[in-house]
Amino acid sequence: MHTYPRKPYDVLVVGGGIIGLVTAWRAAGRGLRTALIDPEPGGGAARVAAGMLAAVTELHYGEQTLLGLNLASARRYPDFVAELEEATGLGTGYRACGTLAVALDADDRAHLRDLHALQRQSGLESEWLSGRECRRLEPMLAPGVRGGLRVDGDHQIDPRRLAAALLTACERAGVTVHRTTVTALRVVRDRAAGALLADGTELVADQVVLAAGSLSGQLAGVPDEVLVPVRPVKGQVLRLTVPPAYAPFLSRTVRAVVRGSHVYLVPRENGELVVGATTEELGWDTTVTAGGVYELLRDAHELVPGITELPLTETRAGLRPASPDNAPLLGPTALPGLHLATGHYRNGVLLTPITGEVMAEVLTTGELIHEARPFTPRRFTSLPADVREEQPA
Ligand code: GLY
Repeated sequence: MHTYPRKPYDVLVVGGGIIGLVTAWRAAGRGLRTALIDPEPGGGAARVAAGMLAAVTELHYGEQTLLGLNLASARRYPDFVAELEEATGLGTGYRACGTLAVALDADDRAHLRDLHALQRQSGLESEWLSGRECRRLEPMLAPGVRGGLRVDGDHQIDPRRLAAALLTACERAGVTVHRTTVTALRVVRDRAAGALLADGTELVADQVVLAAGSLSGQLAGVPDEVLVPVRPVKGQVLRLTVPPAYAPFLSRTVRAVVRGSHVYLVPRENGELVVGATTEELGWDTTVTAGGVYELLRDAHELVPGITELPLTETRAGLRPASPDNAPLLGPTALPGLHLATGHYRNGVLLTPITGEVMAEVLTTGELIHEARPFTPRRFTSLPADVREEQPA
């Protein structure tokens, strides 16, 4: 008698960064038998990211739709963190500290004024402050600061601790974690049906989620017509330490655009001060360069001169997964059974809570929730943009 392969999993998540982990955790929470594959789960771009939850201060012209998703995720953060910390007993470093975006010269000030106008048009809360008012809030700021925007709703989390908590949450929720590499997607009768692993094992599943960050476009076996349009965008980031004698060095995230480049300083409660980040289109290169470190320190020093006194404890580069419109790819592809959760670019940490919710819903019901509909991967293919996926078997 002919026997069909066993179906051990309902869902296979390829990629164990924060997006893959939250997808797996939320899928398991809906009762789906879930596995996750990654040689180093908890790694990826979150090892490097500063963890700003900057829906308001990182608003850009033309990205109002993305703003809706970003705000929806920011609103979920307090409950999401409480649930994750309760489930794992682990902290995440979530800090409702707010952000101050400052200007150092007339050009920066004009840029911030434009941002302020856009924020107001979008119904967002931000307050214009004079240079003196900025320094009253943050006394370490340079005397030359010409003004700034106080945004009390843009917070931060420690992405490394977030990743560690999500991995523990997955394991506690019954997710099977395979610490290895996926060599190819398994496609059977024009349907994603699992994955082949580096050791030759074949995992079978009803649905597959590709959540491999900037590597998502590289998986063998994905048919040509299922374009996964992500590219790596390098970001170099520094970590410094604020000795207890200097604390509190900064009490909130401080950021600016200096000579056209974004620089931000994110102070953690444990004394870590994260300084980021470059934005470089250099393919897969993750070299930390003297020029990258120099520019970050130069710009950060212009904002907060005292930074040069602090120990520099780490330099690192990561790869943001960017899509052609800088917005994420969420939900079903043209290949039945294959979903994407990638392309989060500058907003991966911010979008973690809502991504988990969106993906759990689509995996369970086949429906993309309202906020996620504009982010269907099908916007980059010529196929009908019907977001309804075949019901899982
Ligand atoms: N969201 C900060 C960055 O991508 O550098």
